Amino acid sequence: MTETHTVDTIIVGAGVTGLTAARRLTEAGQDVLVLEARDRVGGRLRTETHDGAHFEIGGQWVSPDQTALIEMVEELGLETYSRFREGESLYIAADRTARRFTGEVLPVSEQTNAEIDRLIDILDKLSADMDPDRPWAHPLAAELDQVTFGQWLEAQTDDVEARDNIALYIGPAMITKPVWSFSALTAVLMCASAGSFTHLVDADFILDKRVVGGLSSVPAALASGLAGKVRLNADVTHVCQDDNCVVVTVDGEDIAAAHVILALPPTHVRRIRIAPDLPWEHRSGREHQSFGLVIKVQAEYATPFWRESGLSGTGFGPYELVHEVYDNTWASGAGEDGGMLVAFVSGLHADEVGRLPEDERRSRILEGLATYFGERALHPRVYKESDWQHQELTGGAYATSFDVGSMTRYGHTLREPVGRIHFGSSDVAGLGFQHVDGAVRMGSLLARTILEGDHA
Ligand code: FDA
Repeated sequence: MTETHTVDTIIVGAGVTGLTAARRLTEAGQDVLVLEARDRVGGRLRTETHDGAHFEIGGQWVSPDQTALIEMVEELGLETYSRFREGESLYIAADRTARRFTGEVLPVSEQTNAEIDRLIDILDKLSADMDPDRPWAHPLAAELDQVTFGQWLEAQTDDVEARDNIALYIGPAMITKPVWSFSALTAVLMCASAGSFTHLVDADFILDKRVVGGLSSVPAALASGLAGKVRLNADVTHVCQDDNCVVVTVDGEDIAAAHVILALPPTHVRRIRIAPDLPWEHRSGREHQSFGLVIKVQAEYATPFWRESGLSGTGFGPYELVHEVYDNTWASGAGEDGGMLVAFVSGLHADEVGRLPEDERRSRILEGLATYFGERALHPRVYKESDWQHQELTGGAYATSFDVGSMTRYGHTLREPVGRIHFGSSDVAGLGFQHVDGAVRMGSLLARTILEGDHA
């Protein structure tokens, strides 16, 4: 190839990872071009208005451990507010009755609570021994990667309800896969990436703040600082490199650069034809990654009626179609958008209702909400489901993870550059794994790697 560089670095993907990398490289004086396949920036972050109500369809919450994201929010001059959480929460056990509770201690037997505490302690200790940037180097990595999280839990306790609640926090609520489809090592990574398992089980911590205007304001503000350097509707199909440069093909046009960043989930690197072929471990590693599946449902009502009876809107039910639900009313009170609930249907439940016609699925999910909040939950003013599983450019939610046994085999390859090609997204982050914080961290790391390489 004899092309001269059109730009210093091409970034493929205008999610938070790609846009953060572009911002940092631009600040360092590089000329960059961001190519985004969709007709908008933000990737898994988007805010939409339907029938006058505003919905965050993708990511929305920020927690105190997510310091890279918090700094970025401040840097961009955005504001945050606390999630509504006043009042009692609900817990639905196997008998299907909703019980009220406050704080983090579930209304289960003393013995089950003691088992839950014991399991939290074990997972905290395992995650304290993990460097989230190198989970495969954990002292028990091989052992933990060869069993499913479900098997691991069964080996820890005979208390089924304790097990099912711990499973809920990491399976349906975080990795969004059944607990028999990912390894105990992946579960420990999820804990370590948030600081500890104690953080994950504390809804007040992990779902602490929201950004005014929605978390999608972050990529929107990043993109507006890159005016003229972000090209939309640019689906990159080929990347080709040699010792001198890398050439990216989009809509038949070749663009040359010194480096390219593929700021995509590992599953989507596979959509691009790369020449010469990536080393086999890089290809195999990505073959063993897949998206989880969760349907995020938001229902907007004339008022946040649950508050009238002293409920916070928070509910958990390890055996329920809707396994978790929260008050998702915008700002600090019921504003012009009325009151909103956000509910999650994950894993096998999402498969099952996903096969139903739209109307039937809506009825089933609203009935699921009514199990927590009664009849009034059946009649929202506006109802909206997330649709990430239907979009080729995402393919699931929230993020990708390894199948059992693959993190120790291939984990180290996913972030390794191959010549002039660099890879990253929140899916391969350590701290902030699968979260926007991880995307900010990966974007900054990718920019640093390129800048340091150029000055070496
Ligand atoms: P992302 O997937 O956002 O960006 C990749 C971009 O590449 C996309 O824009 C895509 O279109 C583009 N692309 C793909 N192939 C391409 C090609 N060939 N050419 C050009 N462009 C291409 N996180 C959090 O912190 N708090 C939360 O509350 C939640 N909740 C949540 C809910 C739901 C429903 C989802 C789906 C996700 C979350 N998350 C979250 C996760 C969070 O949204 C996610 O981790 C980050 O937004 C990922 O950002 P990335 O930039 O890494 O990837």
